Parts: sequence; structure tokens; C-alpha cells
Amino acid sequence: MKEKLEAIKIAALSKLSKCTNLDGLNDVKVEFLGKKGELTTVLKSLKDVAPEERPKVGQMVNEVRSLIETKLEETRTALAEKLREAKLASEVIDVTLPAKKPVIGHRHPNTLALEEVERIFIGMGYEVVEGPEVELDYYNFEALNIPANHPAKDEQDTFYVNGDILLRTQTSPCQVRVMENNKPPIRILAPGRVFRSDEVDGTHSPCFHQIEGLVVDKNITFADLKGTLAEFAKELFGEDTKVKFRPHHFPFTEPSAEVDVSCFKCGGKGCRFCKGSGWIEILGCGMVHPKVLRMSGINPDEYTGFAFGVGLERIALLKYEIDDMRLLYENDTRFLKQF
Ligand code: FA5
Ligand code: MG
Repeated sequence: MKEKLEAIKIAALSKLSKCTNLDGLNDVKVEFLGKKGELTTVLKSLKDVAPEERPKVGQMVNEVRSLIETKLEETRTALAEKLREAKLASEVIDVTLPAKKPVIGHRHPNTLALEEVERIFIGMGYEVVEGPEVELDYYNFEALNIPANHPAKDEQDTFYVNGDILLRTQTSPCQVRVMENNKPPIRILAPGRVFRSDEVDGTHSPCFHQIEGLVVDKNITFADLKGTLAEFAKELFGEDTKVKFRPHHFPFTEPSAEVDVSCFKCGGKGCRFCKGSGWIEILGCGMVHPKVLRMSGINPDEYTGFAFGVGLERIALLKYEIDDMRLLYENDTRFLKQF
């Protein structure tokens, strides 16, 4: 019996010393100390031992059991410590590795173009103001001398909120709001979003941006308008840019014109982008109509003024040689990253 216990002890300790994980440790515990374990079997066979020997053998069994239990705990502690160290080692941060670069946002070409336009006009003494995108019919049409039966008021062109309220189709209502609240001299720039139910294509969008300009003072003439816009186009697109004033009609200016710049793609020869004409329209302009001045509280016998409305997207396309306006709205980072 004594030899048997000694053998069990040696076997258990040897197995424990070879344990490399907590599962293995548990197996050893079950094998030697469990209900069907080797020591328990020895205890059960105690009845075959001579009665006078029993206490002694019993004591030996207990000694072996407690020795195995102690060793088991020691091994468990040592193993846990080892595992913890391995985990820490595997999670260590290598501070010498190159850092991951965070993706940094870029300013949108529209923003860049707007800042450039603002810079040019602020340099000429203009002040930047803003007006509401949801606008009264009065400011968007009536006060701009656009009568109730004008085709621009057709539902096909204008998004109406209700009979009196609409999404502004142009930034020109800002002219009226400024003239109502300020005495000349006036020199403002009013950028913002406008809405029209236009079909989407390479140069049109139902939601786009305009930049309104308005100058009102004594003795302002069409020559001031022409000089200002020619200077603007040259500063924006370079000295070689050709500018063309085309007679046009706007109800709120008289006389009126549209300004075209030579096409950036073909340089004026004619291509798909400029629809073969060699020119791209960038703005509408004219001398503020006397009726508009009067409706806004300014005496047209004393003051004259000019106004213009630039399409911001068209400027961005030209300036950055982008050949489709839709690229400006898709927010594809591969596109935006280039600016
Ligand atoms: C106007 O909106 C006038 N309010 C401009 C104006 C202001 C004239 C002050 C006189 C005095 P027009 O509808 O042509 O005009 O638009 C002006 C510019 O906006 C165009 O030259 C063009 O560059 C741009 N534009 C027009 N429609 C779109 C569209 N659907 N998508 C993108 N840009 C557009
Ligand atoms: Mg037009």
C-alpha cells in the first residue's frame, strides 16, 4: 500500500510539472483527486487493510492528498502568472512603428471657389451678406419686377412651399432685402444656395449656388459694371481669359447682359463641354431697374446701381477644370482629395 501511494505521489507531481495550461491542470486534478480518481480508489480499498494498520494508511493517504493539493495550487498560481506575462508581452505597443495617418477633410471645390470670389470682391470694398433660402414670393419675384404671370414663376421652375413661400430660385432677393434696410452707397456680395427644378446634367443641378453682387450709389453706370466684371474674370481665371457681354433680358435689370468666358476645355474652339460654342455662361447682370430701386425705397432719380448673379458651380468647374458638375455633389473622397 505504501509503495502504491508513493507511486501515485510521484506520478501526480511529474504530471503537474509538465502542465502548460489550466485545462491540463484540471485533468490532473480529476485524475488523482476526483471521485473516480486514484487516491479515492485507494481510500475505498482501505477496508481490505488490517484494522490496526488502517489509521496509519489513512494518514498516509491524507498526506499524499494534501501534498498534491498544495502542488496543484502552486502550479496554478505559477501558470496564471506566466499566462499573464505572455498576454502583456503580446499586447505591447511598439512606439517605433510609423503612425497611421488620420484622414483629414478637404475643403470642397465650391468652398475654395467661393473664397476666391469673396477675396476678389472684398478687395474691391464689397461686404458679404446672407439671405434666407426659404423665401417669400414677394422677394424672389414681385419686388424684382417679375409679374405674377411670368414664366419663371411656373411650377416647373420653382419649388413652392405654399402659395406665398418658396425655395429661392436665385440670390437676387438679397438685393431687395439689403436695399430695404440700407442707404446707399451699397456694395454687397450675397452668396448662397438656390433651387430650381432643372434637369441634372454636366452643367445643371436642381440645387446650386449663386453669388449675388449689388452696387448702388450716385453716378453708377454700365461702364462700372463692365469694368468690375472684366476685372473679376481676369483675376479669377487669368489674364488670357476672354470675356463676352451678351445682351439679355432680366425683369429686374435694364439694360441686362449675360457674361460668357472662353471655354477652359477647348480654349474657345468648341467642344462637348461648351456645346460647340467655345463659351461658357457664368453670370447674369445689368443695371438695377428703376422700378426695383423704387420698390425697395431708393430714389431712382438720385441713385443708380448694377447687379450680377454668378453661378458658383460654373466657376468651380472652370477654375479647377472639372468637366462634370455632378462630381461636385457625389462627395467621392478620391475626387475631393485632389483639391
Ligand atoms: C439669374 O438667376 C439672375 N438672378 C442673375 C442676375 C442677378 C441677373 C443680378 C441680373 C442681375 P440665371 O438664371 O441666368 O440668372 O442664373 C445665373 C447663373 O447661375 C447662370 O449664369 C449659371 O452660371 C448659373 N446657373 C443657372 N442655372 C443653373 C443650374 N441649374 N445649375 C447650376 N448653375 C446654374
Ligand atoms: Mg441664364
